[in-house]
Amino acid sequence: MNLLGSNSKHFIILFSCLFLVHAYGQPGYILGELCFISGNYTSDSQFQTNLNVLLPSLVSNGTRDGFFNTTVGAGSDIIYGLVQCRYDISPEDCQSCLETSSVQIIRRCPNRKKAAIRYDYCILHYSNIQFFSRPDRNARGILYSVGNVSDALANTYNQQLTSLMNTLSSTAASRVSKFDISSINYTSSDQIFGLVQCTTDLSSNDCLSCLQSMISEIRSCCDNSIGARIYSTTCNFRYETYPINPSPRQSASAPPPAVDASPPESTTGHGKGKPTNVVVIVVPIIVSVLLCAICAYFTARRVLKNKRIQKHEIIYDQDELRSEESLQFSLNVIRTATNDFSEDNELGKGGFGLVYKGELPDGQKIAVKRLAKNSGQGPQEFKNEVVLLHKLQHRNLVRLLGFCLSGEETLLIYEFVPNRSLDKYLFDPTKKAYLNWEKRYKIIGGIARGLLYLHQDSRLRIIHRDLKAGNILLDAEMNAKIADFGMAKLFGVDQTQGKTKRIAGTYGYMAPEYALQGSFSVKSDVFSFGVLLLEMISGQKINNFQLLGHASDLRSYAWKLWREGNALQLMDQSLQDSCTPDEVKRCIHIGLLCVQDNLDDRPTMSSVVLMLNSNSLTHESSIS
Ligand SMILES: *[C@@H]1O[C@H](CO)[C@@H](O)[C@H](O)[C@H]1NC(C)=O
Ligand SMILES: *[C@@H]1O[C@H](CO)[C@@H](O)[C@H](O)[C@H]1NC(C)=O
Ligand SMILES: *[C@@H]1O[C@H](CO)[C@@H](O)[C@H](O)[C@H]1NC(C)=O
Ligand SMILES: *[C@@H]1O[C@H](CO)[C@@H](O)[C@H](O)[C@H]1NC(C)=O
Ligand SMILES: *[C@@H]1O[C@H](CO)[C@@H](O)[C@H](O)[C@H]1NC(C)=O
Repeated sequence: MNLLGSNSKHFIILFSCLFLVHAYGQPGYILGELCFISGNYTSDSQFQTNLNVLLPSLVSNGTRDGFFNTTVGAGSDIIYGLVQCRYDISPEDCQSCLETSSVQIIRRCPNRKKAAIRYDYCILHYSNIQFFSRPDRNARGILYSVGNVSDALANTYNQQLTSLMNTLSSTAASRVSKFDISSINYTSSDQIFGLVQCTTDLSSNDCLSCLQSMISEIRSCCDNSIGARIYSTTCNFRYETYPINPSPRQSASAPPPAVDASPPESTTGHGKGKPTNVVVIVVPIIVSVLLCAICAYFTARRVLKNKRIQKHEIIYDQDELRSEESLQFSLNVIRTATNDFSEDNELGKGGFGLVYKGELPDGQKIAVKRLAKNSGQGPQEFKNEVVLLHKLQHRNLVRLLGFCLSGEETLLIYEFVPNRSLDKYLFDPTKKAYLNWEKRYKIIGGIARGLLYLHQDSRLRIIHRDLKAGNILLDAEMNAKIADFGMAKLFGVDQTQGKTKRIAGTYGYMAPEYALQGSFSVKSDVFSFGVLLLEMISGQKINNFQLLGHASDLRSYAWKLWREGNALQLMDQSLQDSCTPDEVKRCIHIGLLCVQDNLDDRPTMSSVVLMLNSNSLTHESSIS
């Protein structure tokens, strides 16, 4: 009783009443809304127009499959939206939950560029920033029953709870539905019922790690509680001492329980059975409001009497700060993952330090770049850059997972790409045969798209400055992934174009204006891309060219053959059987356009991508 003054009492009454009114006719009640502070849109803006298109599309398409994600708009007005329903509910329940969400999210988070709302039965999440496939490991909302299990049972109860939650999470993570529900006994007659779910855009590993983060919160918030729900924007769990199956549909004329997890009647500190304060409302809405007010009043009284109030904690988010935390790995974790940076785990030496292979406790394989001492930046600037680079996500870029800053160590943690780098194949006399034309052509396309994303499609504009075969990694399907991008930014020397005294490139790949004057731009990356193309076709290293004709380097040799109309002679002998001559010629042509001395003559990456995809080179096709 002393926990709550009379103000809080009124608050509870008002709240319960609101839930009943808006929850009328549809089960599940609101768990919380998250109005992120990442920015506001103005009314009548394009963003709002897009949101008005997005929400109905999420509701209608989400109802069909129980999950749906999409984007509306482009550029600075793009919105990413995702909805998901609890997996085991009916389409009708799903639809009504989504409909309510789409109305409530606007009411509760007016003008927000990023918001999420979670009900028992569904989640709706939209943002101006891409969030698909990214686990949110922050507990955004924690609700629990204040009722405790009796001391005598506490040990068994907690053991069984842990075991239930672990089983549920690993099963759910391995399923396509990312959902599981089950129960476990903790006495001969008492059970714990649990359910877990991730949004299905998450990978198994991400789903598992998301759930594990939620579950790890139990100890600090809800030890011995007879029920709790903890959720982020991408995963959630709930457990109770009564069954949590979805309510059956035939009760359409009855409203849902007023306060869903209100305590059972039993006085032993644990119990079972559904909450009992269900009111049948068959009268017009005004009467139902009256009834609900009364009902809520008594509910509140009883709840107060039993001192078992469900606590409602909603954590408002400071998105940027949190994402920085979630990207930080502890040095111990990385030491363990890499076997204390053992030599056996060395993958190679990059421009900025040694790279090690590692494996996180959840089985995820990583590559750890151990930066050679000082990045020349303060820790906060470094973290800010990592957060920005983490946001660059493209299938042709190696994904940056996080960082570790500890004492002398500055580490960058990347996804592990299994097939090493392109140069290991391309310049190896035996392995090069494995790279037939089809594979090389796919790799070329991938590099071009990745580079285009860096130059223009990502929210940051990034010049790679050291594009070369050694920085192209190949995944299990031999897709190209560009590595080592954004390093100049991390080292605090980046502008989108300019001049530098620190020339970071690799001899042979560097555009003349960069190599000679240190002046770089997207066009110097285009030059390096052109060199890479010529290498891919000839199978020869740019700076270790085995002379076939008279020309002294690969670039001049390619020019010469092109002018003589013998372009195909440039081709690697091992491509003889697999090549498509038109494609090879087109690539040589593009390569030559890219390596022109005058940077204004070089195409942009967007025209390169266009040219790669078209059957004829209609424009920019004259080589000076
Ligand atoms: C956005 O709007 C909310 C509510 O109107 C306000 O509290 C908040 O300060 C605004 N945030 C920004 C960044 O303008
Ligand atoms: C989603 O729903 C909208 C209707 O609101 C429809 O126009 C659109 O085609 C649907 N999109 C998909 C991908 O099904
Ligand atoms: C939905 O999310 C998946 C997983 O991240 C992504 O591959 C897909 O492109 C998204 N769909 C849309 C329409 O954006
Ligand atoms: C339940 O247990 C927690 C921790 O064990 C304690 O802080 C809390 O006061 C207990 N609540 C009740 C109602 O006994
Ligand atoms: C678990 O509890 C249920 C319900 O009380 C009971 O029917 C079942 O036999 C119990 N199972 C075990 C293994 O004790």
